[in-house]
Amino acid sequence: MGERVFTNCTAATMVEGGDPYGLIEGAAIAVADSQVAWVGPARDLPQDFAAWPTHDLDGALVTPALIDCHTHIVFGGDRAREFEMRLGGASYEEIARAGGGIVSTVRATRSASDEELLQSALRRVDDLLEDGVAVIEVKSGYGLTIADEMRMLRVARTIERHRPVRIRTTWLAAHALPPEFADRPDAYIDEVAITGLTAAHSEGLVDAVDGFCEGIGFTPTQIRRLFEHARSLGLPAKLHAEQLSDLKGAVLAAEFGALSADHLEYLDPPDVPRLADAGTVAVLLPGAFYALRETKLPPIAALREHGVPIALATDCNPGSSPISSLRLSMNMACTLFQLTPEEALAGVTSNAAAALGLQGEYGTIADGMRADLAVWHTAHPSMLAYWIGGNLLHGRIIAGEFSER
Ligand code: NIG
Ligand code: FE
Repeated sequence: MGERVFTNCTAATMVEGGDPYGLIEGAAIAVADSQVAWVGPARDLPQDFAAWPTHDLDGALVTPALIDCHTHIVFGGDRAREFEMRLGGASYEEIARAGGGIVSTVRATRSASDEELLQSALRRVDDLLEDGVAVIEVKSGYGLTIADEMRMLRVARTIERHRPVRIRTTWLAAHALPPEFADRPDAYIDEVAITGLTAAHSEGLVDAVDGFCEGIGFTPTQIRRLFEHARSLGLPAKLHAEQLSDLKGAVLAAEFGALSADHLEYLDPPDVPRLADAGTVAVLLPGAFYALRETKLPPIAALREHGVPIALATDCNPGSSPISSLRLSMNMACTLFQLTPEEALAGVTSNAAAALGLQGEYGTIADGMRADLAVWHTAHPSMLAYWIGGNLLHGRIIAGEFSER
């Protein structure tokens, strides 16, 4: 079923080792059963595929479908008022300590119905789809009761039934301390973050476990207890680490062999080899850096030097990163962090897949990988990071089926 050869295209395979971007001009891509069966120069197409129906892509650029590997896309309300407060001089931390911040989105999320949460999330998902995204990671973390955290993840999973997108769900109950647990963070970790994880996992709702390791979040000791429980359930870890200060969250993440450590502006360069040794992906979130007007840059040179894979994501959330364009995040990563356009594209394809443990299925165009591809109006992949806004997407190939955008 669904056998086809896409012809007359340039393929940025993102397979390492050859040309930049793994670029193949005059490419053919054979797909069957939702997977790539062959990719290479059209002149080398094996005889086996010659009889398959062809689809001429008219010279378009084809990349792996993009992956947004860190979002908080399911939430109630917005925080436009806090944007105004920050412009007036208040810091993100001050607003959080005064009862705003994440906890204000918790109030709005708890009082929203499932349908309201879904519909508002779908609008943001549609924005991401316009950028050729086909995989989105979604975190809980705005419910902060067992029931509301599980509800967020159920709503997140529902997105797959409404849009052509793969959703990965992450348990982020250790995001902030809700008012009913004021001054009792350890009790919250035990009674909600850990107990709820068991419940959510037994309902099949959890692909990974995350926490906010920060002065306004949880201590490394508290996160360690959560990660130990995650490990006993066989669940991988991710961590919001070193976003506002250096609590050695990345070192903790590496110790647990985490899939990723995310944010990392305050990561100390001597700690970078720990990430490299653990195979932990550094997920950079330039939207949050930009929106919080952060000035401390993540240690990019050390990450490169030690070969830590760098991924990029929107961090789409109502507080620190109100952005639903992954291409704009790529542009910001180049402009603000001086990533190359090639690093930016790897950051939302191959390395983003690794940050989700999906590198065997997504993120490169190669035999046996999912035939989820993005088809662009542009001639060269550097355009994807360079051009700000606009609609560069021509179409999507999802499970081997082409549709025009
Ligand atoms: O990734 N840092 C913690 N979590 C989010 C912010 C969430 C919020 O402000 O609502 C982040 O930046
Ligand atoms: Fe985040």
